[in-house]
Amino acid sequence: MLDIKITRTTTPKALPQDETKLGFAKQFSDHMFLMDYTEGQGWHDPRIVPYQPFALDPACVVFHYAQEIFEGMKAYRTADNTIQLFRPECNAQRMQDSSDRLCIPKIPVEDYVQAVKALVEVDKDWVPHIDGASLYIRPFVFATDVGLGVHASKHYVFCIICAPSGAYYAEGLDPVRIYVEDEYIRAAPGLTGFTKCGGNYAASIKAGELAEQQGFAQVLWLDGVEKKYVEEVGSMNIMFKIDGKVYTAACTGTVLPGVTRRSCIELLRDWGYEVVEGPLAIADVMKAGHEGKLEEVFGTGTAAVVSPVKELDWKGDKVFISGGKIGPVTQKLYDTMTGIQWGKLPDEKGWVVEVCKG
Ligand code: COI
Repeated sequence: MLDIKITRTTTPKALPQDETKLGFAKQFSDHMFLMDYTEGQGWHDPRIVPYQPFALDPACVVFHYAQEIFEGMKAYRTADNTIQLFRPECNAQRMQDSSDRLCIPKIPVEDYVQAVKALVEVDKDWVPHIDGASLYIRPFVFATDVGLGVHASKHYVFCIICAPSGAYYAEGLDPVRIYVEDEYIRAAPGLTGFTKCGGNYAASIKAGELAEQQGFAQVLWLDGVEKKYVEEVGSMNIMFKIDGKVYTAACTGTVLPGVTRRSCIELLRDWGYEVVEGPLAIADVMKAGHEGKLEEVFGTGTAAVVSPVKELDWKGDKVFISGGKIGPVTQKLYDTMTGIQWGKLPDEKGWVVEVCKG
């Protein structure tokens, strides 16, 4: 159990006036959580302080060698004014898996969850009140050793910040266009694809920018070896409903094990759908599209929730999905996930963790 010292701001910021115009993570709440790591001492000095900039030495390891990991979570306000989290222990566990790969000391699952809950409670007024908006939570750990040798750092900071946010995509729940990337890759076996490390995202920006210039929301990454099998989209996992079955890439090291992905798979199986986690060739997706068998395509992610895809472009070939509309299974998943998260549906699976009354 952490002994968290809380210092409240004496100059609170104005809360957002219009929660329909929040966008995604553009402004941040009044406080942040911090905890330091020193080799030999372990994690120490857990504290909540006013949101503020860091003073860091320019030679910090993180600036040069990107020894950094992060998570993405949300806090939701229910109609009866309860503030709650969705499967926070899954994020805590995933951060441990990322830590292991990046040689970063692990934070115990219960300490991680305690820290998130404590910060959300202090900043509970920042949890939005309207449908579809929530408090996006960004826990991250970065290396602070000073020096330019390439080694695991002996000092780290664990920080959590929060941003009242609406939909991740400007399109909201409107279906998006996705470009299938056939030049750049995101991950390969043995690399860091299964972790949430900043480096994965840095390497993805160029392809994302090029796709955006052509009017696509994001890119769909293919496997890094043969560029043959579908893996994931820039900020979410992706699922394909073909001829009644749902397909998604398996989490075998190159794909992020998404909490929303795993929750959607559980729900789909409960509803009687066969979900295949395994290799799916992009050529087969496009073929299914041309034969009218590609019934629905959707992304899953904490930020994106469940996000319908209306078009895939691969090497000049295009397929259009669900007549440009959200498909019935995508809609049911979206309604069920958001229903559980915002407390409108019963939490039969025990996924929700209460933080406090709002
Ligand atoms: C999330 O869904 O929480 C993520 O971390 C994706 C991020 C790139 C916005």
